[in-house]
Amino acid sequence: MPSSGFDKVLEIYRQRVAAEARQMHEVHHSATRPATMHRDELLLSVGEDVAQLCVDLIVGRNAQIIVELGTSYGFSTLFLAEAARRTGGKVFTYEIHPDKQRYAQQHIEMAGLSAQVEWRLGDAVALLASQPGPIDFVLLDLWKDLYIPCLDAFYPQLATNGVIVADNMLYPEFSRAEGAAYRAAVRTRTDIEAVLLPIGQGIDLACRSR
Ligand SMILES: C[S@@+](CC[C@H](N)C(=O)[O-])C[C@H]1O[C@@H](n2cnc3c(N)ncnc32)[C@H](O)[C@@H]1O
Repeated sequence: MPSSGFDKVLEIYRQRVAAEARQMHEVHHSATRPATMHRDELLLSVGEDVAQLCVDLIVGRNAQIIVELGTSYGFSTLFLAEAARRTGGKVFTYEIHPDKQRYAQQHIEMAGLSAQVEWRLGDAVALLASQPGPIDFVLLDLWKDLYIPCLDAFYPQLATNGVIVADNMLYPEFSRAEGAAYRAAVRTRTDIEAVLLPIGQGIDLACRSR
């Protein structure tokens, strides 16, 4: 059973997601970044399939330290916090925009999940230096040129059997090259196994073996 406010807050996000859907259809199939795109007004959420997969991975592995890179307005945070409630774990979520973080905080509060979340405001690459470990689960979903610097920053803290879900491997099309560069960087490491999955906007699912 989700927390008492989970469904109510999810409904608020669903309405924003629906409003974004038409705009995102154009964005996803554009080979170049559209000039009219105001990306900071958009949730740019991972979507419910990927969010639910994250919940299943977190709960199934009893993850305790969960890191989210790219809170945005808190759609994915809602799911990660609900998963943390079930495992007794904690979500450390990073966002560079104060207004987005504030919106996310208000909605996580409304969902009754504030106790599960530690908020980090600023540049995730720099702030990760003080992230406690061992990290059991990472959702990597900030701007795509930061995936490799973030991977390098959190990797020393990633637990054995720790999992990384990296979003936007396939869509939007204009970020495919950065997605491919990230996957190549992951696969150069000898202690990790990874697979590209066509779920949502395409995720790379990686697990550290030792
Ligand atoms: C794709 S959105 C995240 C969507 C969110 N995970 C969800 O599913 O609802 C990416 C977010 O990363 C944030 N971001 C970009 N660069 C950042 C940085 N250096 N440090 C922290 N957050 C950053 C952006 O402001 C944006 O809100």
